Amino acid sequence: MLEKPAVTQVIIADLIARRWSPRAMDPDRPVSREQLLALLEAARWAPSCFGDQPWRYLVWDRFRDSAAWQQAFECLAEGNQGWVRNAPILLLSLAAPNFGHNGQPNRWAQHDTGAASENLCLQATALGLVAHQMGGFDPERAKTRFNIPADHACMAMIAVGHPAPVEVLPEALRERELALRERKPLADIVFEGGWNQSLQQV
Ligand SMILES: Cc1cc2nc3c(=O)[nH]c(=O)nc-3n(C[C@H](O)[C@H](O)[C@H](O)COP(=O)(O)O)c2cc1C
Repeated sequence: MLEKPAVTQVIIADLIARRWSPRAMDPDRPVSREQLLALLEAARWAPSCFGDQPWRYLVWDRFRDSAAWQQAFECLAEGNQGWVRNAPILLLSLAAPNFGHNGQPNRWAQHDTGAASENLCLQATALGLVAHQMGGFDPERAKTRFNIPADHACMAMIAVGHPAPVEVLPEALRERELALRERKPLADIVFEGGWNQSLQQV
């Protein structure tokens, strides 16, 4: 797999540094059930407000049910379809709106679902798989096609597969695949003591 480790100011956990969002996937290699279950198990063990576990996942496996996978694929934005066509697995993450213990709105449901999906992506990295989250899809179409409860929020589609050389991608995406990964400096996203006050780095 193409490695694009994060360039960090201080050393961070290797798994976090190595996770990234590749688009090049092997179209001919299925993800085993054991691997898929490991991804979902990793998501399951995310922390959540009140331990509510508001995340839900819908799974489509092209090697098991290509018609259902195709239905999910068609919910994606055109720009994503260009590379997702090679992915053997598509997932949709959803957030349940209310707490299980009292039925009250859970305003952390989407936050917690994001945490679960990051666990899933890190587990994919640990297994040598590719996982790439996407917001570019039509949630209403997905809801209708798959009988998703109206009050559940569709959060992200996630393409999963085995890595492949950049050549499997359409020409237009190859440069992006090889581009350096970048982040805002810590000073732009972290404050200490009060809003807009700089973090003391020593
Ligand atoms: C919620 C969410 C939505 C995203 N939507 C898309 C998308 O529709 N298409 C795409 O190619 N990448 C998408 N990405 C991937 C981001 O572009 C990627 O995570 C970001 O550029 C950082 O790169 P890295 O994951 O390689 O560190 C999405 C990521 C997240 C978390």
